Amino acid sequence: RNIKLVEVRSELAAGTRGASMGIDALKVASLDKKSTFFTKFDPINVPDANQYLWKGNRFPHAKYIDGVHQVIENVYTAIKSLRVEKKFPIVLAGDHSTAAGTIMGIKAADPEKRLGVIWIDAHADLHTPYTTPSGNMHGMPLAMCLSTDNLEAKVNEPSEEEISYWERIKNTGGEDPKILPQDIVFISLRDTENPEDHLIKKHNIMTITTDEVHATGVKEVAKKALNRLSDCEQIYISFDVDSMDSAISMGTGTPVANGITVEEAISLNVELIKDKRVCCWEIVEVNPTLDTENLMAENAFDVLEATTQSLVHNF
Ligand code: ARG
Ligand code: MN
Ligand code: MN
Ligand code: MN
Repeated sequence: RNIKLVEVRSELAAGTRGASMGIDALKVASLDKKSTFFTKFDPINVPDANQYLWKGNRFPHAKYIDGVHQVIENVYTAIKSLRVEKKFPIVLAGDHSTAAGTIMGIKAADPEKRLGVIWIDAHADLHTPYTTPSGNMHGMPLAMCLSTDNLEAKVNEPSEEEISYWERIKNTGGEDPKILPQDIVFISLRDTENPEDHLIKKHNIMTITTDEVHATGVKEVAKKALNRLSDCEQIYISFDVDSMDSAISMGTGTPVANGITVEEAISLNVELIKDKRVCCWEIVEVNPTLDTENLMAENAFDVLEATTQSLVHNF
């Protein structure tokens, strides 16, 4: 297939600095492994807005939302035009907030096609400025795409300016929600807050636990996830490296215990991407400044390379 590598050196929306260097850490890992992966692509670079870090943050319930808005717009525009050209974007990003721009771009290129999302992550990333415990916007991309405020579970009072940026982000690529809650499948979800649990329960969003992955195996889990999305004509896979167990590496902003193994992450993504409806795959949240010996990037690179190979071999 017509793969296009997309690099987004985002990091504004993470709580810890350094995720913008994740892509370069993946490249260092590929060199250490003597892989030719990166020689096969001529990547496009989506502009980040990391200069906002020096301007300071004015938004406690949506940190750097002015800059985050800009990066999401940039990602949206890039992904939309790649999908219009029927390219398959493999997105390497820093913080996870930009996945909202990816989803919005996919949807805008094919608005009539129902879009399913497989979110492999320790976190649900379903927060809004009204519910966030941290203000970190990498915890919000799925709420942006669902176009929800989740006011039923409100805990914060965002400012007018925060709300106005939040509205603009949600409306990127049109006012309608980009996805339906029943078209999300979480895999290895294990660190959520009450407002997120409220949405998951209310909409009966499918959650496949780490224990289920260990117990039934990757093939069954992939089948179950893809079956759940049987009404979707397109599928996007978002792979947050913190889905993998924190014992393999601390090289990500929000590591969590009881995650999937590297082997499970590899075979899960290899299996999922064989489905012809999958139209985009993304890997996020490698942070080499939190790591030792670039271990997270080494593992994440193995997932990236194997998944891309599976995509190429199955088409
Ligand atoms: N739920 C927590 C928060 O909103 C953690 C989010 C972590 N998200 C991520 N993409 N790593 O602050
Ligand atoms: Mn995430
Ligand atoms: Mn996460
Ligand atoms: Mn937590």
